[in-house]
Amino acid sequence: MRPPTKRSWAEPFKIKMVEPLRMTTRAEREAALTEAGYNTFLLRSDDVYIDLLTDSGTSAMSDNQWAGMMLGDEAYAGSRNFYNLEAAMQQHYGYKYLVPTHQGRGAEHLLSTILIKPGDTVPGNMYFTTTRAHQERAGGAFVDIIIDEAHDPASLHPFKGNVDLGKLEAIIAKVGPKKIPYVSIAATVNMAGGQPISMANLRQVRELTKRHGIRLFLDATRAVENAWFVKQREPGYADKTLKQILLETCGYSDGCTMSGKKDLLVNIGGFLALNDWDVFEEARNLVVLFEGLHTYGGLAGRDLEAMARGIVEAVQEDHMRARIGQVEYVGEHLKALGIPIVQPVGGHAVFLDAKAFFPQLDQLQFPAQTLAAELYLDSGIRSMERGIVSAGRDSKGEHHRPKLELVRLTFPRRVYTQAHCDVTVESVNAVWENRQNVRGLKMVYEPKHLRFFQARFERL
Ligand code: F0G
Repeated sequence: MRPPTKRSWAEPFKIKMVEPLRMTTRAEREAALTEAGYNTFLLRSDDVYIDLLTDSGTSAMSDNQWAGMMLGDEAYAGSRNFYNLEAAMQQHYGYKYLVPTHQGRGAEHLLSTILIKPGDTVPGNMYFTTTRAHQERAGGAFVDIIIDEAHDPASLHPFKGNVDLGKLEAIIAKVGPKKIPYVSIAATVNMAGGQPISMANLRQVRELTKRHGIRLFLDATRAVENAWFVKQREPGYADKTLKQILLETCGYSDGCTMSGKKDLLVNIGGFLALNDWDVFEEARNLVVLFEGLHTYGGLAGRDLEAMARGIVEAVQEDHMRARIGQVEYVGEHLKALGIPIVQPVGGHAVFLDAKAFFPQLDQLQFPAQTLAAELYLDSGIRSMERGIVSAGRDSKGEHHRPKLELVRLTFPRRVYTQAHCDVTVESVNAVWENRQNVRGLKMVYEPKHLRFFQARFERL
């Protein structure tokens, strides 16, 4: 037998408890999808077989995290679990101060409210829906400074999350550094396909912004996944631990917003972490209004404990090898079938290129929304639109028309097996083979904020 050249991504855990899934018929799925207005967000989870809507809050906790749940100190103030979380954050992320929040957007709300004034500009490496919404709500204007390759699904650039320093310099020259409260950097970049930013690029962004006296805040939601890509792809990092890489990443910023529902393997939780005492003072004060006292931020003591333990598990290499290995496994198999996906495969999801699936559809016939619907009808797999519906409208009321019109197959951590992955590949392939017969959708209801969550559609 030839020795294998590459080890499989096999899971570094075994399964102790199972959650049965309901299998549905095509007729049941037709009825459920019509009822849901062709929006996968509006499906009941009972009608879903393999749920690839999001990796947010959907991961499986470990026995150690569940054990920690029993040690929740539910005191209103000064819970011991807050101090455990604070210590874990300081050790792994390296920031001085912690403000817990119920989830990531709670932290985004605080940071945007404190630092952004009406008329300000906030440059970022591609937008994320809630992040941009909070920046705009505070009176800021978001400007995309990501490299052009990030908007091209076929570009094989290893760090498609990188900032184009020329674009950043141009925007600083245009509006002036005083109108830029901070630069907002995500690691990895969700909307670009879960693509990483390189350490070299981040360091350059830090140097450039520092020269102009501009702060840099990190969206550290999937920064451990970003650290994995740095370790695999960036010269000089192969022998560093994920923990070391994470610390270096955070070291180039003044603080971070965090959705613990991703990297940190919890079902709910987030935080704002800061180095600047003045900003911390204000955040610690404001959090009382919106989330809860500054030692619980809308979370139970047990949730704080699960997140503290999740931090330690997230930086384990065996864990991350299997987590990203699973996503790559699906991506490689889809690619082998000739199915158009965003390349390279990102950290948390495989993104299908809906424009390439359905060249017969105009963007206003919602190709990605259509593809997500077809996939659900085929097999009960739930995915998410990340195209024109998610992009929303600009301040003049026009549709943003993003270059990327994608469907995201997002993998919860430690939840699905390789057989589930195989079924997913087979189902995407079935839709691919029938692609010529597919017609688009029209939007029949459009909510004002973050429309993708609740919009309704009908078949054309
Ligand atoms: N930042 C990024 C990069 C995210 O992916 C998310 C959430 C947030 C911030 C907001 O965090 O949900 O805890 O309030 N992303 C989820 C997703 C919803 O499906 O990609 P939250």
